[in-house]
Amino acid sequence: MKNVHELKHPLIEHKLAILRDKKTGTKEFRELIEEIASFLCYEALSDAKLEEVEIETPICKMKTGKLNENKYAFIPILRAGMGMLDGVISVMPNAKIGHIGMYRDEETFEPVNYFFKVPKDIEKREVIVIDPMLATGGSAIDAIDLLKSKGVTKIKFLSIISAPEGLKAVTKKHPDVTIYTAHIDDHLNENKYIVPGLGDAGDRIYGTK
Ligand code: PRP
Ligand code: URA
Repeated sequence: MKNVHELKHPLIEHKLAILRDKKTGTKEFRELIEEIASFLCYEALSDAKLEEVEIETPICKMKTGKLNENKYAFIPILRAGMGMLDGVISVMPNAKIGHIGMYRDEETFEPVNYFFKVPKDIEKREVIVIDPMLATGGSAIDAIDLLKSKGVTKIKFLSIISAPEGLKAVTKKHPDVTIYTAHIDDHLNENKYIVPGLGDAGDRIYGTK
């Protein structure tokens, strides 16, 4: 799928194996979500434009490139997206942060937006939306719709696990958004959970079930 980048790396598969395991406890689950998020962010910045700067090493002056972190914002989709925040901040500590609150209605599986707070100059920034699960794609589509309605034009989406159905839906509605995912799983079950997946990401991060 165009605009979808899957991290194909033995280390990622290794970490996902522990993450998916139902025996993995909350502490380790949180740590792995953070770690994988930092790898996704690293990958998503591979096309970042650098600004030329002159610095002086202990040996000599040199011209080199630096990232202008003021041009970026991270937007976690609540709740589960918060689990990825420290991971992406470890890669780019000075980016601004916004929040979009979404939950999936348990019967219709449709996303419901309950919170929206983003930096004032959001339309001037490249926005990196983070959410560990992209299932039907409904939450991602609505979050991107909201950001575009505020004038945002550059959006990337990071997910730990994605379903092919959701990726198809998001890329169809928002072909300009690039998605970085650690793994594309097999399918959605009758409850719209990703198979094999990892269960409910929010519940596993916060220990709510
Ligand atoms: C999960 C997940 C995504 C959404 C994905 O959140 O974190 O936001 O479901 O599903 P979709 O692609 O079908 O929309 P959930 O609604 O469980 O809320 P939570 O993060 O508060 O647990
Ligand atoms: N949300 C989750 O947390 N897990 C899924 O498999 C689907 C949606």
